[in-house]
Amino acid sequence: MLTLSEFDTFSKKYLLDWEQRSTVRTGKRSRLNKEVISKVEFSLHLKPFLQYPEIRAFTPEELHPYYLQALCDMLYGVAHFEVDFVTDQCGKLANKDLGIELSAAIKQVAIAIGTDEMYHAFAARELLADIEEFTGVIPTVLQQSTQEQPQQVLAESDPKVEPRLMPLEYFKTSVPPALERIAETTFLCILENAVVDDLFEMAKDFEVVNPVAVYNREHIQDEGRHKVFFQRLLKYIWGAISEEDRVVLGKAIAGYFKKYMSQSREELERAFSKSLQKLPLSESAIQSIAAQVANEMLAKPFYQKDFTKNPMHLMGFAGVTEHAPTRELFLNLGLLAESLELA
Ligand SMILES: [Fe+2]
Ligand SMILES: [Fe+2]
Repeated sequence: MLTLSEFDTFSKKYLLDWEQRSTVRTGKRSRLNKEVISKVEFSLHLKPFLQYPEIRAFTPEELHPYYLQALCDMLYGVAHFEVDFVTDQCGKLANKDLGIELSAAIKQVAIAIGTDEMYHAFAARELLADIEEFTGVIPTVLQQSTQEQPQQVLAESDPKVEPRLMPLEYFKTSVPPALERIAETTFLCILENAVVDDLFEMAKDFEVVNPVAVYNREHIQDEGRHKVFFQRLLKYIWGAISEEDRVVLGKAIAGYFKKYMSQSREELERAFSKSLQKLPLSESAIQSIAAQVANEMLAKPFYQKDFTKNPMHLMGFAGVTEHAPTRELFLNLGLLAESLELA
């Protein structure tokens, strides 16, 4: 439970800190040139495959085109996600009624975060322009002629995958209209936590000469601060809504993890094959590695997977996992383990 006054005090301190430390107010940003681009190393998406000899056999030179494409795709993702989702949601937090009271300082933090995110998109676009200028490489989605993606529904063209709403739509439609703003803000809190976990993951084991590490360090400087704010925002929301609303929101959160985080064998194998196809590997090697990695993933309990553990820390911090009906749902879905809870 976090009171409005405690959250307001936190937000006032946040604003002072933002003035002194945010990259948009104080920081210099890095640019890329031909020499720096030749040092790009970005193996995050190869992590599940690194134990296989076929992957280990590649030299850094052979992997460089893969790394560069992965970096382009990540920067494109940042440029879009920050503007289309985070900044949009931060604007709503400041200007639209959430259904529970927010102070002026809390709303001002939302605008400060939106400002950071616009700046992150600005920096990401600059780096994309550098890469295109020096190497000609552009994001994968811009290379495809049929880029039209369905906006509201995921995977509808695949007959084996049940059509799903985009997660934001899912959150908004899983609750009564009066809770819609709370539900989409909850999704914002979940994603702003996940982003930081990804950046920390990418910042690990990096050589200093690697420009991806430098970029991540610059980005994480702001995102670490965002994460702390959104943890508190969810805690405040959870304590401020009625018990009846907590039951409904808890169901929506549990449903989100079930729908969007648990994948079937077919979905996993397809996703792994798609990643591996970006490397110069034979079709039989791709199929065999994809099947083995899918097996490993399916053998691991849900609560041991990083993409579940990290959001569950957020749920613990915000008090969501202490709420008996929601905790029951999390336990039933395997998002939490009884033994871990007692530990
Ligand atoms: Fe950002
Ligand atoms: Fe952020």
